Amino acid sequence: MPNLNDPRIPVLLFGLTTGIALSAVVQYLYQTYQTQKTITEAQSEVPQDELDSIAPSTAAEATIDRIRKEFYIPAARLQNMLKAFVKDMQRGLKQDGAIMKMIPSYVTRRASGSETGTYLALDLGGTNFRVCQVTLEGAGKVRTKQRKFVVSQELQKGTGTALFDFLAECVEKFLEESGIGKDTRMHLGFTFSFPVMQQAVNKGVLMSWTKGFTASNVVNEDVVSLLQAAFKRKNMNIKVAALVNDTVGTLASHAYVDPATVAGIILGTGTNAAYVEKIDQIPKWKGARPASGEMIVNMEWGNWGADRIPLPSTHYDNKLDRHSPNTGQQLYEKMISGMYLGEITRYVLLDLIATGELLRGQEVPELKKQYSFDTANMSRIERDYTKDLSDTRLLLEELYGITTSTLADREIVKHVCQFVGTRAARLAAVGIAGIVTKINKLDGCTIAIDGSVYEHYQHFGNRVRDALRELLGMCSDSIVLAQARDGSGQGAALIAALAES
Ligand code: BGC
Repeated sequence: MPNLNDPRIPVLLFGLTTGIALSAVVQYLYQTYQTQKTITEAQSEVPQDELDSIAPSTAAEATIDRIRKEFYIPAARLQNMLKAFVKDMQRGLKQDGAIMKMIPSYVTRRASGSETGTYLALDLGGTNFRVCQVTLEGAGKVRTKQRKFVVSQELQKGTGTALFDFLAECVEKFLEESGIGKDTRMHLGFTFSFPVMQQAVNKGVLMSWTKGFTASNVVNEDVVSLLQAAFKRKNMNIKVAALVNDTVGTLASHAYVDPATVAGIILGTGTNAAYVEKIDQIPKWKGARPASGEMIVNMEWGNWGADRIPLPSTHYDNKLDRHSPNTGQQLYEKMISGMYLGEITRYVLLDLIATGELLRGQEVPELKKQYSFDTANMSRIERDYTKDLSDTRLLLEELYGITTSTLADREIVKHVCQFVGTRAARLAAVGIAGIVTKINKLDGCTIAIDGSVYEHYQHFGNRVRDALRELLGMCSDSIVLAQARDGSGQGAALIAALAES
């Protein structure tokens, strides 16, 4: 036992504790230095793009989940929408002024394939104006030659006279190039893809503009007279023999090759459908009973839901609508078509930046410009299967100069596109199921579909199919969704030929 009274013990104890404390301090300082060194080294050695690839955090996942819920339409809701859609079709067939206009097209016959002759066809419905020469050779054969012209924003929003003069000028150029004299008598089918109250096969009054057009002095006017007058100003010897909607043209031209075709649908800049209806099912039709007992009806389905029931609109949709030139109209179209899908996505992204959930809240001035995010970008982003979404990074950089997006940011952007695009396809399926249910063709038929969204948005078609299955079960398998391309001009020529005979 050591002697506790030994005077050297306190000195010994003091030395011992000081030594321990000192070595602890040294060890702590050394460890801190090491840790700091690792962090600094890590920061200087890890390249920027690896930092960018930080996986989505729980916060990003929560954001994605929230947006998913905002845009998801459950199966039960789809079913209710389908019922409401069919009811609205019936309302429109009964009387004018309904939400879905259900306009009788005056087209009561389908082409037999034996029609012959050369016709001009014009197609105005968006940024591109097409002029075609369509030669019907009989036996179902058709030859076409066409040229596209761009309709500038100034023309779309200027005066009606300037717009129709431009159309006549394009036709003049086309005839010149084709070696057809200006005074040659030609018959023409005019595809005019806006809501027109048809008054004859070659007469119809524009009810309202859609898709951003606002040209003055055209609403409430007969667009055939306006076109005919523009030809007259240029001394051109052209007779407008038929005025058709693009959906009607698409249906007519596809029925020419597939007689099981019952509807023509456009899923492009705008959206709409036309279908073959029994004349007895159109109580508002007061004209003569056609020999065929049927008529093509231009539904103008884009305006469905204009009473705000029962569309699943979000606050992004409402904002888009408030800032559009036709507020309160075309609400279904504004949730489905190419003109608007990019714009909805843009509003979601802006919102997520504002809440700090995207790009750590960094402002992107370019993204604030209306319609600066094209729907084609959504399709491109959704097709980005690279591990670090590098194509999306490139696109964000190209479009908006964003160089600091993390993988989590890009994941969010991709999901937003997916949710907005999926909702659009599911909504379009409601319309298709509505037509098939209304005309009782659940046992099989063909639906011809044209338009950039359907053709180029890679997942769109499959999503429509999936939703159709949810809505109609096994019956959906017997519905053929046929891709139609540029059929509306040809259809207009066919209808002009039918009108002539
Ligand atoms: C128009 C329809 C047209 C559709 C597709 C809509 O905005 O109202 O008449 O068929 O776009 O082009």
